[in-house]
Amino acid sequence: MANPRRISTPINTLLPIHNPEINTPFQSQTLISRFSRFKLFLKKPQAFPFLLSIFLILTWVFLRINQQNPQFQSNPTKFSRFSRITNDQDHDANLIRFSSGFPSPITKDNRGWMIDPVSIALDSGIPGGALICASIHVGEIKPGGLRGNHRHYTCNETFLIWGARTVFRLENDAVEKGYGEVTVAVDEVAVAVSPMGRAHALVNVDSTRSTFIIGCQDRVISYNDSSSDFNVWDDLVS
Ligand SMILES: *[C@@H]1O[C@H](CO)[C@@H](O)[C@H](O)[C@H]1NC(C)=O
Ligand SMILES: *[C@@H]1O[C@H](CO)[C@@H](O)[C@H](O)[C@H]1NC(C)=O
Repeated sequence: MANPRRISTPINTLLPIHNPEINTPFQSQTLISRFSRFKLFLKKPQAFPFLLSIFLILTWVFLRINQQNPQFQSNPTKFSRFSRITNDQDHDANLIRFSSGFPSPITKDNRGWMIDPVSIALDSGIPGGALICASIHVGEIKPGGLRGNHRHYTCNETFLIWGARTVFRLENDAVEKGYGEVTVAVDEVAVAVSPMGRAHALVNVDSTRSTFIIGCQDRVISYNDSSSDFNVWDDLVS
């Protein structure tokens, strides 16, 4: 009679501690009871600050991920870079614009923006741009200054414009006025295309900043009366 008791005592006292198979139901019961207590807690009004802080932390984490990985952006301009111009007026002026800030499709990191205007014009589907740069013009337009207002018959030209509020006008017979005209903002970088035979003009309408431009022409031209028309629009005066 004494034997079974001697055997059963160690089993009862030792097994719950050393045998993991018996341990597990005990632990999961504790987990279940903790979980139901947690569920009860969530239903109480005191849980509101707790839930709010969880929500804020998740929002912060999401924003951090978004900032570090611009490819997660749901910003539609990301996709317009290599698809199509979305703005009608930009379309009439053969222009595509990007934010110069970070993040932006042309700004991969905090160092600043960098683009290839010729390939961006092509990838954006802007027709008639220069495919090669046989001649490059780089310049500044001071506040109130005007450049262009001329029409080249022997070259296509692709422009890069940035630095100040700048009006870009492009001859366009499809528009009632005869031209498309848009304003590039100070914090924007724009690529614009003037196909051969279409007049273009740039006006710096900023009060303090300089506009900077790069013009890529696909043929070396001499600026004479047989290759270009000058002072095309009377309402633009330099
Ligand atoms: C300018 O564009 C037109 C039309 O896309 C093309 O036929 C022409 O070869 C281009 N360049 C020059 C220098 O004519
Ligand atoms: C005018 O420009 C055209 C095209 O660039 C060139 O072929 C022609 O020789 C130029 N004429 C004069 C007089 O410089």
